[in-house]
Amino acid sequence: MIKAITGTRDILPSDIPKWKYLEKVVSEVFQNFNYKEIRTPVFEETSLFARGIGEATDIVSKEMYTFIDRGGTSITLKPEMTAGVVRALIEHSLDKKQSVNKLYYISPMFRQERPQAGRFRQFHQFGAEALGSNDPMLDAEMIIMAYDIINKLGLKNLTVKINSLGIPQSRENYKTILKKYLEQHFNSLSQESKKRFDTNILRIFDSKEDQDQKIMTDAPLLINYLDDESIQHFEKVKNYLGAAGINYEVDPKLVRGLDYYSHTTFEIVSGSVGSQSSLCGGGRYDMLVKELGGGDIPGVGFAAGMERILLACENENSLNLPEEKIDLYIVSLDKNLLDETFKLAVELRRRGLTVETDYLSRSVKAQMREANKYNSKYVLMIGGEEFRKGELVLKKMSDGEQYSIEKNDLENLGTKIKES
Ligand code: HAM
Repeated sequence: MIKAITGTRDILPSDIPKWKYLEKVVSEVFQNFNYKEIRTPVFEETSLFARGIGEATDIVSKEMYTFIDRGGTSITLKPEMTAGVVRALIEHSLDKKQSVNKLYYISPMFRQERPQAGRFRQFHQFGAEALGSNDPMLDAEMIIMAYDIINKLGLKNLTVKINSLGIPQSRENYKTILKKYLEQHFNSLSQESKKRFDTNILRIFDSKEDQDQKIMTDAPLLINYLDDESIQHFEKVKNYLGAAGINYEVDPKLVRGLDYYSHTTFEIVSGSVGSQSSLCGGGRYDMLVKELGGGDIPGVGFAAGMERILLACENENSLNLPEEKIDLYIVSLDKNLLDETFKLAVELRRRGLTVETDYLSRSVKAQMREANKYNSKYVLMIGGEEFRKGELVLKKMSDGEQYSIEKNDLENLGTKIKES
């Protein structure tokens, strides 16, 4: 039997209501902050991600789904949205039409990571990018939107972590200091961290290995080596967060796994989902547009993992979704009246009602069982003595009350059902 590829999942009809609800909350919050939706292709030229996210990152060096297409072009399934959104901004000169572009998205992403609870190879993100201003108000806005969405879903057990990576110059100076410190401990570092020492030294802070963590406890921290401009920017972000009533924790070791960040970085972490606890992450990226061939356009954004958020909702039992219902089930009492049943079902559906009927020539009893299974608000009987008199029997399922409705009076029937 052919099965779904490891790390991918079917979202079955029974899961759809919570996805739709999540998407509704996401769109509403983004629209309240006046963000406009953008949809970019699922695949892009590989070089966009390699240049955008950084060659030395785990995503680019180990996790991308890359293939050569029949035209000989190297193509990659998008592992994240930021690079694609920036490409679209440059390609369509969106910055010429609008000085600050506030954009949001909901989309599948692809990373060939080792699957585990909360980590998939095809997963979904919602997120936002604001391009065209370096105002710290926008950094705060990202954190607030992410927090508000997660909060609206009823999740508790959350920590908002923020950090500043400063401007590139102060980061470069700091890297020399960190290098000096780590040189003294080089032999005790794990193999992976030894590699990162040359390629991506800040990421050693992310290592889960005991030996690395021990060394990093006493490592010098970038936050203590920031220049004045970066300190001021960070202070303003913190003030805005305070004004919005967001509790946060400054985590000087929050470096994030993508290369494009400067100034603010943040994550919202849940205590309810196990080891893959980061529900969302983001930060400022003032150089990315230029690096991808555009103008000097600063940006800031975040993305959240929808599977992880829904897992947290499940574990905290935080979603209280209404039971799914249909408006009407039409029960056919007489097999000779199937044409009538069919016509009536189509007409009522065209009037905006959710209508189901029997397709398996089942007994009346079985049809009634099916109506209950669908949680139908009403059942309409076609056939019997009433039908010969030109009437239909409508039964309200909540109290069993029955109404006699004239066969041709669909207006009345529709209104009665909609009223309930
Ligand atoms: P990221 O931290 O790589 O950032 O991903 C954001 C979120 O996507 C994570 O916090 C996590 O919830 C979810 N996620 C990532 N990988 C997986 C996976 N394999 N399975 C399930 N969920 C996953 C970015 O993608 C940046 N583009 C965020 C950003 C936007 N920064 C600025 N603008």
